[in-house]
Amino acid sequence: MKFENRINRTQSASLFEEAKNYFPGGVNSPVRAFKSVSGPPLFIKRGEGCRFTDEDNNTYIDFCCSWGPLILGHNNAEIKNMVIETVEKGTSFGTPTKLGNSLGKLILENHSYIEKMRFVSSGTEAVMSAIRLARGVKGKSKVLKFEGCYHGHVDSLMVKAGSGLATFGVSTSAGIPEAFAKETLVVPLNDKSALKEALEKHGDDIACVIIEPIPANNGLLLQEKSFLEYLRQVCTEHDVLLIFDEVISGFRVGFEGAAGYYGIQPDILTFGKIIGGGMPVGAYAASAEIMGHIAPEGAVYQAGTLSANPVAMAAGFAALRQTLGSNFYENLAQKTEYFVKKIQAYCDEQGYEVSIQNIGSIFWMAFTKETIRSADQIDPASMEKFKILHHDLLQRGVYLGPSGYEVGFVSAAHQKEDLDQAAETICVAMDIVFS
Ligand SMILES: Cc1ncc(COP(=O)(O)O)c(C=O)c1O
Repeated sequence: MKFENRINRTQSASLFEEAKNYFPGGVNSPVRAFKSVSGPPLFIKRGEGCRFTDEDNNTYIDFCCSWGPLILGHNNAEIKNMVIETVEKGTSFGTPTKLGNSLGKLILENHSYIEKMRFVSSGTEAVMSAIRLARGVKGKSKVLKFEGCYHGHVDSLMVKAGSGLATFGVSTSAGIPEAFAKETLVVPLNDKSALKEALEKHGDDIACVIIEPIPANNGLLLQEKSFLEYLRQVCTEHDVLLIFDEVISGFRVGFEGAAGYYGIQPDILTFGKIIGGGMPVGAYAASAEIMGHIAPEGAVYQAGTLSANPVAMAAGFAALRQTLGSNFYENLAQKTEYFVKKIQAYCDEQGYEVSIQNIGSIFWMAFTKETIRSADQIDPASMEKFKILHHDLLQRGVYLGPSGYEVGFVSAAHQKEDLDQAAETICVAMDIVFS
């Protein structure tokens, strides 16, 4: 299919050509290159509320929201003001700051599943540190993960299931020694018997199981609550720590994330995205006892030059304080439900094979009627439909993340009128997809 552009993307196209001289593939993170959709990536120069504007002056209603951090939309006034106020006093001191305390206190006082935390600078760093912590606490080396969950570009987690019945993983990136991949076992999501078998066979060597409790990096693979409860139970039985990777779900489906949503107590939690209000912040957290293993209190070393950077702490504080407002999460979930239902109703009426999964303010459009709970249920051929949808929506001023495997996010800045406009636009684009 030939994708014709009705909008002008010449500035973005020429900036992308220039960027290729500086960065591999022209980007600093692979999915930004638009490889799985059409045309050059948009170079964005400004955002306000639920919209952003590219270098060609096209404006879009944005459902990518910087891949999740912008739960309050673009250029939120409180975040901006607090960041400016902080920057005026300096950008980094390499010492503890009062702002770090403020954000730590705000989080710990409002999150009943954690007692102590450590700030880092990205989700990947949070996960990497959490895995080291788990290994340090348990004195075991293997990690179990689930096919279809992404945990950042951590060596031992860039691993997919091996062929046949082998549960040991094979790496999904060059540059990862097979010996590292062999430290990781991979089992399918939502499959109690595969999990049970892996833990029975290898539990004595497994330090931790890591899961995105709301898997949102390979479509939205909502798990049955009973599966997550079973996971908690078998981890305890096998003396294995359970890590909830809440880099996406944390502060997204509620202040207490997926742990609070499902009422399940993990041993270690990892955070990123929303926690930094749009600045580079990650964190890992656990009981005081487990966190006591981290240096300088304990023997597990982990450090960071810019960890708890004051400007980033200010942004995170200003963001999270707003999420604690009354009915913040209820309103967001209701708006998302309204938006999703509108599109779903239209697709059903037209007989289009589409089902939109959603939880809280996360949504994902699948080009099937099947309920998808594991990665292998996604038909790669359906991504061609997403490509058409994505292209057409760009022409009409709606921006989705540039891959059909990525979820969309609704922010507090998306008003009912914006959602109506976007839903109507998506319905028109669906007509094109299915024409
Ligand atoms: C669940 C999850 N864990 C970890 C990461 C890695 O976070 P970062 O990109 O900040 O390194 C991501 C990123 O999308 C994620 O979604």
